Amino acid sequence: MNDGSFSLSHRRLLLIISGGIAAYKSLDLIRRLRERGAQVRCVLTSGGAQFITPLSVAALSGEPPLTQLFSAENEQQFGHIRLSREADLIVVAPASANMIAKMAHGLADNLASAVLLAATDKPVMIAPAMNGRMWEHPATQANMATLASRGIMKIGPARGALACGEEGAGRMSEVDAILSAIESFFAQNAPLQGHRALVTSGPTFEPMDPVRFIGNRSSGKQGHAIAAALAAAGADVTLVTGPTALPEPLGVRVIPIETAKEMLAACKSALPCDIVVCAAAVADWRPKTQSTFKIKKNGGHAAPPLTMTENPDILATLSQKGKSRPKLVIGFAAETDAVIDNAKAKFARKGCDWILANQVGGGKGFGAEENSVTLLRREAKGTISAQAWPTLSKTAIAQKLVEEIVKKKG
Ligand code: C5P
Repeated sequence: MNDGSFSLSHRRLLLIISGGIAAYKSLDLIRRLRERGAQVRCVLTSGGAQFITPLSVAALSGEPPLTQLFSAENEQQFGHIRLSREADLIVVAPASANMIAKMAHGLADNLASAVLLAATDKPVMIAPAMNGRMWEHPATQANMATLASRGIMKIGPARGALACGEEGAGRMSEVDAILSAIESFFAQNAPLQGHRALVTSGPTFEPMDPVRFIGNRSSGKQGHAIAAALAAAGADVTLVTGPTALPEPLGVRVIPIETAKEMLAACKSALPCDIVVCAAAVADWRPKTQSTFKIKKNGGHAAPPLTMTENPDILATLSQKGKSRPKLVIGFAAETDAVIDNAKAKFARKGCDWILANQVGGGKGFGAEENSVTLLRREAKGTISAQAWPTLSKTAIAQKLVEEIVKKKG
């Protein structure tokens, strides 16, 4: 499995290195993970730092390891809650007897244990490493049983010569074995592996002249979150996005565009694909002509006329019947009123398969962190089903949408 065939290119790993001679193997683990494209952020405990230096971790992972629980700088930048939230998988390697005990008992007295305590909804994998007697001690075995009951995954330990000169179980598994376990975890958790997805996001800017444009207030948060969630589920994602202030989601191919016409061309270039989600707020019209020079005020005379022409409808174009039509085309319907009725009419006009109807205005929708949506699906025999979701963060909506996509795939 660890022959490079499984890419970790959009995977975010948090590697916690606790105290033990096996910490030197973690340096090789970082290197091998990064070779496969994973992003590896490291937490080095003070015990771990007795065996390897923060500098060697920084050199291999590409950023300095985090070490302090109470560090104004780290807390602002990463915070221990954010550290666990932003990881797809947390790996503790080596996991010392002390670290295992802290995890089992819910201690949070250093950055590593605080991150692990905050990781309530994150997968965690540990590679125990300690003296054989410590491993076999009923206390450690009871702690391991507690961790297993919470779904914490275990790799090793292996049997063999231990650093203390004794023989027995307690050696940290070799890097190959840890890497295999990580790859298998992602392979099992990548239900959309082998599927190509296209997502549109953000606004479009339609120029009037070289400095002015007609745009809208779309932040791109929902579309970007969907692209990230699809990538996390293993899909090969292209994100075509208008101008936003957002960072590029990890492991996603991003095509930046400005106008609706450019968005359509970029989308066509990303075909064929299996799944399309049109979350962009595309301008319905653009100025019919675009002045090559900045339009000047003309001394109190009438304002220049603005004649508009319709933009291509990207969702409708991608939904058109044909051999290369993506299997699942999803659109959004932002509405200020009669959300469901308007969305139903949109189904007919656009020809897509699902619509996420969402209420905008009153602090909801554009720019907000949360969204209230109803998932409308065109069922067999032309009926439409509606499933109202609770108000959720845009990330949670993206996650839920991906779950529905995976269910449909079967
Ligand atoms: O027509 P309306 O803008 O309300 O439709 C919204 C849906 O259609 C969204 O999914 C949006 O991304 C998509 N759309 C599009 N191209 C347009 C207009 C809207 O893809 N020109």
